[in-house]
Amino acid sequence: MPISIVPAPVVTELQRQFNYEFAAAHAYQALSLWCAAHNFNGFAEFFSKQTSEEREHAEKLYKHLLDRGVTPVLTAVPAPKQEFANLAQVAAHALQMEQANTKGINAVYEAAVAAKDYPAQILMQWFISEQVEEEAWCAQMIDRVAAATCAGSVAELDRHIVKYLE
Ligand code: FEO
Repeated sequence: MPISIVPAPVVTELQRQFNYEFAAAHAYQALSLWCAAHNFNGFAEFFSKQTSEEREHAEKLYKHLLDRGVTPVLTAVPAPKQEFANLAQVAAHALQMEQANTKGINAVYEAAVAAKDYPAQILMQWFISEQVEEEAWCAQMIDRVAAATCAGSVAELDRHIVKYLE
């Protein structure tokens, strides 16, 4: 028996959001592959770590559903964007994705508040804080890429990007 009844609008939002997190993992994998193909191995490693993080986010969300007696439903994962002109576009794309994700997280929280679903509210508070960090590293990456204006400084940035953004 489930330990609590999850209101239907919250189930809908949690289902949508955990699938979005899997789509984000797929999209970060695409960024990692683009970076590896262009010999930005530090960026590739960073985005590979993000792929793992997004999978962990999906797991937190679907485990919440499972713990409350709801069967998570996987949807199709859309093909991610894979073509970029340069690293600046890659970093800008990461920020766009995280901004969209923040909207999705907020939508889950709003549904949980409207339904007075306290367990889901507490779960989503962790994600709201996480999104502040996620958008912060994106902004820092954009700034650092913009500041790297010669081949030497780009190579130096690539060597240290994982450390800078950890
Ligand atoms: Fe699941 Fe990048 O936030």
